[in-house]
Amino acid sequence: MKIVDFADQFTRSALQSVTQKTFAMIKPDCIDKTGLIVSEIEAAGLTILNMKMHKMSLSEAQEFYGEHKGKPFFEGLVQFISSGNVVGMELMGPNAISAWRGLLGPTSPATARTDKPNSLRAKYGTEGVRNCAHGSDSAASAERETYFFFNKLSKQTTLNSYICPSCIVIKPHLVKEKRLGEAINAISFNCKERGLKAVAIQMFSLNKDEVEEFLEVYKGVLPEYGLMVEELKSGTLVAVLVEGNESVVEAVRKMCGPHDPQVAKALRNGSLRAQFGTDKVKNGFHCTDLESDGLLESQFFFA
Ligand code: RTP
Ligand code: MG
Repeated sequence: MKIVDFADQFTRSALQSVTQKTFAMIKPDCIDKTGLIVSEIEAAGLTILNMKMHKMSLSEAQEFYGEHKGKPFFEGLVQFISSGNVVGMELMGPNAISAWRGLLGPTSPATARTDKPNSLRAKYGTEGVRNCAHGSDSAASAERETYFFFNKLSKQTTLNSYICPSCIVIKPHLVKEKRLGEAINAISFNCKERGLKAVAIQMFSLNKDEVEEFLEVYKGVLPEYGLMVEELKSGTLVAVLVEGNESVVEAVRKMCGPHDPQVAKALRNGSLRAQFGTDKVKNGFHCTDLESDGLLESQFFFA
């Protein structure tokens, strides 16, 4: 459901700032810090309504930053923004626009380090255009940038490896527990250790039919199938596409560990499900189980 208007001025002023939305974008210099940045967003009490990794073309970057056209830093800025993946997010919460810009800190990382040393740009920014992340400066910009990012950008084919990819789903319970940043960080860390790469990340809300289609191979096989469907449709989830040089599906299964977190804790304590899961349904992550399903599951989210 979506609030479209308020009955009177009192309700409007009471609720509008609480449900304010903004657009945030992690820039290419900090794409490896996505998990840490998402954790700060969660700790600040902002809700992530939507999220997508994307590599902008030069013309997309020029349109996105159109308001700065003609300024001396424009060329360098759009070259940099289109040089690698970014992660765009729609955030909502009390005074989201200024709250997110507050977390970012001053535009220049050097100024941020002297004036606001705990801000994201102070901690993770380098200099000039390489200042970690972007935040909308007004409600009108937020609306324009969110629409541009989630509705106008070219659709990307992220499946480009000849080796079968694998797919990890960060389950809705972790998003609700505000552990999304921690989960993304753990996946990045584990991928790096195993020579794998998370090449795409996107948030989805699936309806019952979509979840049933996605989990079809487990129907009649796992006794908790019904509860697994309920969990995946209970809120937003985040899908991560993983690529690598060989046996990606098997490597990702090892990374996630046994299906049951209690078994995972006993046998594979370093695995993701041991760290994040509580029971067989709220086990933190779904991952592709069968080699033959790697491409299918990846296509379900990313084709
Ligand atoms: P942003 O739009 O990225 O959230 O940053 P901002 O509002 O704090 O700064 P803005 O003036 O909108 O500038 C957009 C981006 O251009 C680069 N910039 N470089 N060398 C410079 O003087 C300069 N000024 C701006 C930064 O990457 C800035 O984030
Ligand atoms: Mg700006």
